Amino acid sequence: MARTVDKARVSRVAEFLRRIDRGDDVRLLVRDVNGVAENLGPAELAAAGRSLLDEGYAPTLVNHLSAAFLLMRKYGQQLSGPKDPSQGGHILQKVTAEHGLFRCLAAELSEITVDLRAAECISDTTAEYRRLAHVVNHLHAMKEHFEREDDVILPSLRRLGWAGLCEVAEEDHTQLRAQIDSLTSLVTGTHRLSAEDFQTALAVCVGRFCSCLSEHLSFEDGLLWPVALVVIDDPAVWRSMKTFCEEVGYCGVHVV
Ligand SMILES: [Fe+2]
Ligand SMILES: [Fe+2]
Repeated sequence: MARTVDKARVSRVAEFLRRIDRGDDVRLLVRDVNGVAENLGPAELAAAGRSLLDEGYAPTLVNHLSAAFLLMRKYGQQLSGPKDPSQGGHILQKVTAEHGLFRCLAAELSEITVDLRAAECISDTTAEYRRLAHVVNHLHAMKEHFEREDDVILPSLRRLGWAGLCEVAEEDHTQLRAQIDSLTSLVTGTHRLSAEDFQTALAVCVGRFCSCLSEHLSFEDGLLWPVALVVIDDPAVWRSMKTFCEEVGYCGVHVV
């Protein structure tokens, strides 16, 4: 059964959004946020946003204010709660650790691409080529990371009314998977290209992949997962996701 929208709560949230817009003291806002956000559902936050739109606020500003509100609520919960829900073996800790590994692999890939640019011939017996093949193998194994997010975490977020954010992540995953496949085919088919053609193709592939990956990880770490931590407020949901993921372990750490 759909939850009834509480009009008084909607108007308290709308006033809170106006206070953020007016530039009220952030510490005062954080002090007050828990009271305003208590038992707040996504429909009530959306209704508060609509009331600001009716007053003439620009849609982009309303989105920013709503995001700022959610982040303040998360911060307020951290300050007042017994412990940060993302600590202590939470599934998002594992996801974040894998993001760190992704960033290291992307940095190494860029370094190798620069090193290989100076090589006169590309052979699968050189140390640079073997390093490149090793990094690309790890990236190939990390595609499982995207599946875990698509199949386990995003469906819960979508059910709670955050389909727009989920679609951004899923589109990025499709692009990143295709880019890892292109890198893999390029590296395994080195012998089919001249050194110069290989270096050019590698620089294009790596540039595109690293930029897409960096933007995607920032989106997840900076917005998607903070929002998920706020809106998925039933610990049992996170526990069941964790149990589901336990068999996978860490993606990309072990390669055959
Ligand atoms: Fe991720
Ligand atoms: Fe992702």
